[in-house]
Amino acid sequence: MDTPLDKGAATPDTVHPSVAVQVRGLVKSFGTGETSVTVLKGIDLDVYFGELLLLVGESGGGKTTLLSAIAGILDIDSGDLDVLGASLTKMAPGTRTSFRGHRMGFVFQQFNLLPALTAAENVAIPLLIQGTGRQEAIARGRMMLERVGLGDRTEFLPRNLSGGQQQRVAVARALVNDPQLLVCDEPTAALDGPNGQKIMELIRDVGRVPGRCVIVVTHDSRVFHFGDRMAELTDGRIVGVHPIHAEATA
Ligand SMILES: Nc1ncnc2c1ncn2[C@@H]1O[C@H](COP(=O)(O)OP(=O)(O)OP(=O)(O)O)[C@@H](O)[C@H]1O
Ligand SMILES: [Mg+2]
Repeated sequence: MDTPLDKGAATPDTVHPSVAVQVRGLVKSFGTGETSVTVLKGIDLDVYFGELLLLVGESGGGKTTLLSAIAGILDIDSGDLDVLGASLTKMAPGTRTSFRGHRMGFVFQQFNLLPALTAAENVAIPLLIQGTGRQEAIARGRMMLERVGLGDRTEFLPRNLSGGQQQRVAVARALVNDPQLLVCDEPTAALDGPNGQKIMELIRDVGRVPGRCVIVVTHDSRVFHFGDRMAELTDGRIVGVHPIHAEATA
């Protein structure tokens, strides 16, 4: 792919228009004093509009931490994060929350569904937060659930759904506000082959629309062929970003 990086790396002050997410020198530690652990040790990464980037790496290596930082859910120690043309690092926390709500979708590794709400209500949450009327939000939630194959489970509570069904609700919730940046943490981990493929098709379609992009953390080699590029996170750094040739992974 002909990328801006091929012509020299952009600096944080001059993010190339084709770059949806630019990470520079991102450092993140947890804990203090002797128990402090530096999980991200200077991450540099570009993700382009129109692509689906896969993020792989060992368990405990910091993939969820990096996704949370990119989504503005987690404060970082140092570095620069530019997302969809805005500097997340310079943004006030309230602005960041609203920015995330309007422009990003996040599929959490642990689903994070609200137990007292039905599947349709869970999916409607991003719309309700944005001020969409309740009836319309829930109607759109039901439509999104149909797209992930759960049209007959819209009124179920999460505890009455299987793990894979809960995962599909979580994906529907991330897609319902038509996000420009979709960030998914192991979105197929609880799904069987056919459902994993179906969900990845939906997720990939978001990335194919111009002006959008998708980042997916996965261990699931069955879905590698949906990616355009694969970034590997090892020992707190991105050690390689490679194009994916569908025929090699199918
Ligand atoms: N809130 C936290 N407080 C302290 N340590 C944390 C916290 N969140 C993550 N960590 C630590 O950071 C490291 C990276 O965790 P992270 O969840 O980002 O890994 P991961 O690559 O997503 O792993 P997995 O593939 O198992 O999901 C781990 O050692 C974890 O213990
Ligand atoms: Mg993780």
